[in-house]
Amino acid sequence: MDSPMVPRKAPRPLDGDLYTDATVFEQEMERIFSRMWVCGGRLEELDEPGRFVTREIGGESVIAVRTAAGDGLAAFFNVCRHRGSRVVDECAGRARVFQCPYHAWTYGLDGRLVGAPHMGNDFDAGRAGLVPVRIDAMDGFFFLSLAADGPPLAEVAADLPDMSRFTLDRLVRGDRHEYEAQANWKILCENYNECYHCAVVHPELNRVSDYRNGGNLEVGRYYVGGPMTLNDGCNTMSATGRSNRPDLPAIEVTDRTSVQYYHVYPNLLISLHRDYVVTHTLWPIEAGRTRVVCEWLFDPEVAAAPDFDPSDAVDFWHLVNRQDWEVCALTQLGVASRGYRPTTYEGSEACLQIFDGWYLDQMGL
Ligand code: FES
Ligand SMILES: [Fe+2]
Repeated sequence: MDSPMVPRKAPRPLDGDLYTDATVFEQEMERIFSRMWVCGGRLEELDEPGRFVTREIGGESVIAVRTAAGDGLAAFFNVCRHRGSRVVDECAGRARVFQCPYHAWTYGLDGRLVGAPHMGNDFDAGRAGLVPVRIDAMDGFFFLSLAADGPPLAEVAADLPDMSRFTLDRLVRGDRHEYEAQANWKILCENYNECYHCAVVHPELNRVSDYRNGGNLEVGRYYVGGPMTLNDGCNTMSATGRSNRPDLPAIEVTDRTSVQYYHVYPNLLISLHRDYVVTHTLWPIEAGRTRVVCEWLFDPEVAAAPDFDPSDAVDFWHLVNRQDWEVCALTQLGVASRGYRPTTYEGSEACLQIFDGWYLDQMGL
């Protein structure tokens, strides 16, 4: 039998250069974002043949597409096999083929080269398809991996806590906000992984879920997280702490009085409420800047109702998000200082310590 996993805990907050140094950032792109399964977003964005998105992962532009077969997914480096031009310049769209804007080499949705003007009969088009990137789906999300020989996504799925009662694979997006935080991606992760700051930074949140109400820590190879209990009389996270939205169909009694928060390494933050789910995906731009995509997911029947109104959930987390990015930006300024001499974690920052420990392991530090 496997012995229980003992996670490494960082002994103290991380050194400043790990948040600010461009070389460290490049190493992270190589050792973490180029090796792991990175959450690309919701499959809803790839809902029909030809629908595609592009993502920046580990310093690479990647195309993810629903192939013509309808049930298939494919992903490629966004690099033309002729002389290297970027093939797709849009963030998202729908295509029949991908045509390079330079000399019009044309690729099918499966990445095969299907047209190359004037190349003649000697040219072996079969060897000039777009270079594949691994793509796989889990719980209604698609994940991308640049590591051709890395573990299957099933290994991550098997490690994660059971979230099946939230029926993630069938939820639909009710809203989406995109932000650019002036902070290193790890500062955003660390911030998500503790609520020590909540009474100060999020008075609205603290009225609904007291910062001292953290439950048991849960940890695996690919995640860290745990529940927070809602305050008396509250049944969801919103300005009033209450919503009339029905429960997601399979949730349990304890889910009515708590919210589960998980950080799935490296870039997915998932917050599970009894009646909706919030996800953040983090997209490091450079050491001190991170793009964040926040999405609100709902039961499809609830979202299809004519009077569907997600604004209570959206307004609440949109406010919390901006409050968070502000203190994260202040922290980014501090960690860049010669005067940055961090002391220690507070007792409720165990998730954060485990994330930092995981990070040090990945970086070989
Ligand atoms: S670089 Fe793409 S067709 Fe020439
Ligand atoms: Fe926060």
